[in-house]
Amino acid sequence: MKNNPFSLDFGAEPNLMIPRITEQNRIVDSFTSENPSTHMYILIGARGSGKTVLMTSISHVIREQEGWIHVDLNPEGDLLNELMVKIMKKTGKLFPRLKLEVSVKGVTVSTTAEKYSDIQADLDDLLEKLKKKNIRVLITMDEVHNSKDVRTFTGFFQHCLREKYPVFVLMTGLYKNLRSLQNNRSQTFLKRAPRIDLGPLSGIRVTKKYEEIFGLDPKQASEMSLLTKGYSYGFQILGYLVYDSGKKQPDNRILDEYKLNLFENSYEKIWEELSAGERDVVRAIATHEPESDVKLIRESIPMDSNMFSTYKDTLHKCGLISKGTAYGRVEFCLPFFAEYVLSK
Ligand SMILES: Nc1ncnc2c1ncn2[C@@H]1O[C@H](COP(=O)(O)OP(=O)(O)OP(=O)(O)O)[C@@H](O)[C@H]1O
Ligand SMILES: [Mg+2]
Repeated sequence: MKNNPFSLDFGAEPNLMIPRITEQNRIVDSFTSENPSTHMYILIGARGSGKTVLMTSISHVIREQEGWIHVDLNPEGDLLNELMVKIMKKTGKLFPRLKLEVSVKGVTVSTTAEKYSDIQADLDDLLEKLKKKNIRVLITMDEVHNSKDVRTFTGFFQHCLREKYPVFVLMTGLYKNLRSLQNNRSQTFLKRAPRIDLGPLSGIRVTKKYEEIFGLDPKQASEMSLLTKGYSYGFQILGYLVYDSGKKQPDNRILDEYKLNLFENSYEKIWEELSAGERDVVRAIATHEPESDVKLIRESIPMDSNMFSTYKDTLHKCGLISKGTAYGRVEFCLPFFAEYVLSK
């Protein structure tokens, strides 16, 4: 059996990518422009929609460009300290003297990394130097949530904007985690930061890819593509299973295995993250036909219309339901999500 080109891993850039050209270019172009219109982008989307992969691929494009350094920060730690250590490490070769100038010794990225007494002042010093050398820093941060460390970091980033330091931030997060972060008084500027909601992958591109890999005709490939609804994780899993079976198209056994993978590795987590009220709404949607009338769904719970709208809006922003093709209709964005919900 040849090497399977599809990937089962979350978070790692897969061999087979359906490019998200519009989103990628928008971010790369604005960060690399001479007069950037923004210094921050936030990628939002359901679990498995491809946030980490897009963030990684953008960081690779940008760091290849002259005059850029890239540091990836882990939102679980002491972010300013990590930022300092990582910039120092990356710029050490560029400016051998920089180390001495900011008087930091033996920089490593281990957990025992040195703590700085006045980290903000040292970072200011360092960023001022990078600015003079026309060097820009791209900071990526995956799965941001509302924690003290993240708030300290974003506070510092606001200060960087005021000082016009060449610092650019690309972060990803789940809608609800970002909402709780930006509801802090000190973080309201995040509400204005441009957000990109990762919707489905292009159906045409998914179809083309399946056509190429499995030698299908356009109709067969399009049927297979519909089974993924453009869900990034679904695209990989379905492709992987079909390839692995040596067949060209999914049969019932493959389809069952595909659904099990979606349910266990993705939907289970998504379900856990829903509140009781959101689950009620999701259950009601699942018991109706796709693209059902919202009013019918609401009356089946029953729930008052303001509350229902609030839940519906949150589920939409979480990337779980789309507003449907006609006014007043809803459906799930993720493939076989209704089936999963009904099995709960
Ligand atoms: N553009 C893409 N083309 C093809 N497959 C993709 C693409 N982006 C992501 N994937 C696949 O989708 C899966 C999920 O991607 P990723 O880990 O980036 O999602 P995520 O949104 O970060 O999820 P989570 O919220 O759980 O961290 C992976 O298997 C990855 O290979
Ligand atoms: Mg991720």
